[in-house]
Amino acid sequence: MTRKDIVTPVEVAAYDELSASDRRLAELAREAASRAYAPYSRFHVGAAILLDNDEIVTGANQENVAYPSGTCAERSACFYAHARYPEAKFRTIAIAAVGTDGKEVAEPVAPCGACRQALLEYEMLAGAPVRVILCGRDECYILPSVSSTLPLAFTEF
Ligand code: THU
Repeated sequence: MTRKDIVTPVEVAAYDELSASDRRLAELAREAASRAYAPYSRFHVGAAILLDNDEIVTGANQENVAYPSGTCAERSACFYAHARYPEAKFRTIAIAAVGTDGKEVAEPVAPCGACRQALLEYEMLAGAPVRVILCGRDECYILPSVSSTLPLAFTEF
């Protein structure tokens, strides 16, 4: 028997340590959170995706009275990005959230499992790592790829 350790590298950065492009993406994710439609959970999430055509597409969670019919911010952003710019490759995604108290969540917010799998599809299409910026109130986590957020992912059948 052998053993394999799967390690997730995470860079922790204060906002003033980010590049101008990453800072802008984080700002747009925060702004997108303010456009969430989340009357049931009152948890507002925003996502901003930078594409290789330099466009930025944002999304926010969209809830529904029939709960499972809603969708997360990350999926609303990635599905719209690929529907709008089917040829473009994803470069970076930033995610931010405003909690039920109306304040930006203190800890960097991480995408749910389904969103990780959905985002992985676009990383596979890009053929290169898509960086992930998880925004918290004072600092953010930067992951080098979507696959690093989803070890042992399902990738083929
Ligand atoms: N939510 C997201 O938008 N992204 C995630 O990765 C986790 C959760 C949304 C779904 C729901 O509208 C609300 O946050 C509470 O779960």
